[in-house]
Amino acid sequence: MPLPPRRIQIAPSILSADFARLGDQVREAEAAGADMVHVDVMDGHFVPNITVGPLVVRALRPVTHLPLDVHLMIAQPERYIEDFARAGADFLTVHVETCPHLQRTLQQIREAGVRPAVSLNPATPLVLLEEVLAEVEMVLVMTVNPGFGGQKMIPATIAKVQRLRQMIAARGLACAIEVDGGINEQTIGEIVQAGADILVMGAAVFAHPEGIAAALRRYRALVEARQ
Ligand code: DX5
Ligand code: ZN
Repeated sequence: MPLPPRRIQIAPSILSADFARLGDQVREAEAAGADMVHVDVMDGHFVPNITVGPLVVRALRPVTHLPLDVHLMIAQPERYIEDFARAGADFLTVHVETCPHLQRTLQQIREAGVRPAVSLNPATPLVLLEEVLAEVEMVLVMTVNPGFGGQKMIPATIAKVQRLRQMIAARGLACAIEVDGGINEQTIGEIVQAGADILVMGAAVFAHPEGIAAALRRYRALVEARQ
């Protein structure tokens, strides 16, 4: 029997939203069919930029029914897991590059009642995931170097997604592949075909000239055409 088509999810990243109208923009994305809300947490240390913390996750929690997908681009993320869990995060993603004791950190996330995920920078090899792949619900493959929205996708990351898809299948695991950075009308088809399950999209959603709802409709149609 052929496998049923994968349900591809779209996770708009609020990094490119209008922060003065954040609640309205998230409501609009939810009404237009977004599947998750991606929150980029940056500390000016692991990455050059500084963004938001648990306070914004807490403020968003009553605004949307969608899962809050919190991407921690911060040094020593283990110090903040309980804060983000209490604030209402559904997924917490830590970077391999920031976690010398990755297995312990993932366990800490699970114990806080949050779904654990792990991310890799473009230059970080997949082999660093091998020993924890069975313990995560999602792998976030960075398709740009983290720190800023609106960057161009690094082409070599497409083959990395394909290899990760094979690695997950070979082990019979169910963890999802999320991709983040430079996903837009031009790149969406290729990255879905490579095996991505969840598409983080910042500028392409919140800075789309026709607005959030039109952007999401367009990407949903492009995704369905590629499946
Ligand atoms: C980059 C962030 C991304 C960012 C993606 O460091 O992790 O989530 O918002 O933005 P776009 O889709 O504009 O590349
Ligand atoms: Zn992100």
